[in-house]
Amino acid sequence: MILSPTIETALNKQVAMEAAASQKYLAMACWADVAGLQGCARFLYSHSDEERMHMLKLVHYISDAGGKAITPMVEQPVLDYENIIQLFEKAYSNELKVSAAIDELVEICVQNKDKQTANFLQWYLDEQHEEEVLYRNLLDRIRLIGLQDRGLYFIDKEVEDLYSQKQATEKKKSKGAE
Ligand SMILES: [Fe+2]
Repeated sequence: MILSPTIETALNKQVAMEAAASQKYLAMACWADVAGLQGCARFLYSHSDEERMHMLKLVHYISDAGGKAITPMVEQPVLDYENIIQLFEKAYSNELKVSAAIDELVEICVQNKDKQTANFLQWYLDEQHEEEVLYRNLLDRIRLIGLQDRGLYFIDKEVEDLYSQKQATEKKKSKGAE
């Protein structure tokens, strides 16, 4: 199968979005690091890596399908946040934007009768669903904890626990794939 120029352009747009997401999470991780929120920093650094993996998966798909993946220019991400709740609100709204972009991308594939690419994108649809649930639940919990008293300590612990759970699930997944 050879990619049509329309699909190639649409996929490259998504490559740029995933690259930008990786940089956004990296900037968030650095902010959390400086704020002394080690659990949040660990979680966000690892999420930045995940977004890069999403980008690379697209790059390889484009190349394997005879297209040319374009290495995108990435805009300067936001470097400062009011507080950790605002940071996670931003992360959640970014995930919603990515979900909308993937939906649109699938729609373009359907309109152009590219079933193979639509099928490849199924993985991204599932991934976005997982991300949305994760961030929505996380936001609910950290809003409940709040920033007063030792709130920051408990928020950091909550995110650290989530990070450890995620690592354990990934380990299980990769063991299953062996
Ligand atoms: Fe992503």
